Amino acid sequence: PAKPIQIKVVLLGEAAVGKSSLVLRFVNDEFQENKEPTIGAAFLTQKVRLDDSVLKLDIWDTAGQERFHSLAPMYYRNAQAAVVVYDITRASSLDRAKAWIKELQRQANPNIVIALVGNKLDLVAENDNEEEEISEDHEDNGGDGDGKTRQIATETARAYADELGLLFVETSAKSGQGVVEVFTEVAKKLDLS
Ligand code: GTP
Ligand code: MG
Repeated sequence: PAKPIQIKVVLLGEAAVGKSSLVLRFVNDEFQENKEPTIGAAFLTQKVRLDDSVLKLDIWDTAGQERFHSLAPMYYRNAQAAVVVYDITRASSLDRAKAWIKELQRQANPNIVIALVGNKLDLVAENDNEEEEISEDHEDNGGDGDGKTRQIATETARAYADELGLLFVETSAKSGQGVVEVFTEVAKKLDLS
């Protein structure tokens, strides 16, 4: 196998959408029910193995609170990939994700690989995606009885992502669904470019 290729990835998105939780799931295969907000940014690394290469991801997990917005360019500058996260149960978070994507398209590396990620899939009780059939042994992941409902349809977000040529994945940092796929798809797209 070829020597590891080092890739800088930045996570962006509204506060509390689950950026840190996605990274924690991907890097340590853990989940924390009450994760504290990120202050400034956090740095973690993880390897992704593709068919004939290994990519080392240097992951910058930024803080979503608006008071940290001005720091973001430091983290997305020179990034080869951006994972822009929204919460499928909070409509405002997709608007915020779209604003991040516009900012990236204006200010980041013009070849940056962008993934749009709809997180907190486990909170949605109804099984409204035929490609995401909930298996019987995971039925108890559907809805926690805390009254959350889906506010962003899968197809709405996918159509937007397709139009802009972005990768698109729905995830749950809590169950792990889709999480490895996000980083693997990003790595595959980078490997080809
Ligand atoms: P900032 O650092 O403030 O920008 O927030 P963040 O985007 O990093 O969110 P964080 O990972 O801290 O998660 C916010 C809250 O949502 C925490 O209480 C998490 O436990 C919860 N959470 C994150 N991902 C999921 C998920 O997939 N499902 C559920 N049910 N809860 C989640
Ligand atoms: Mg965070």
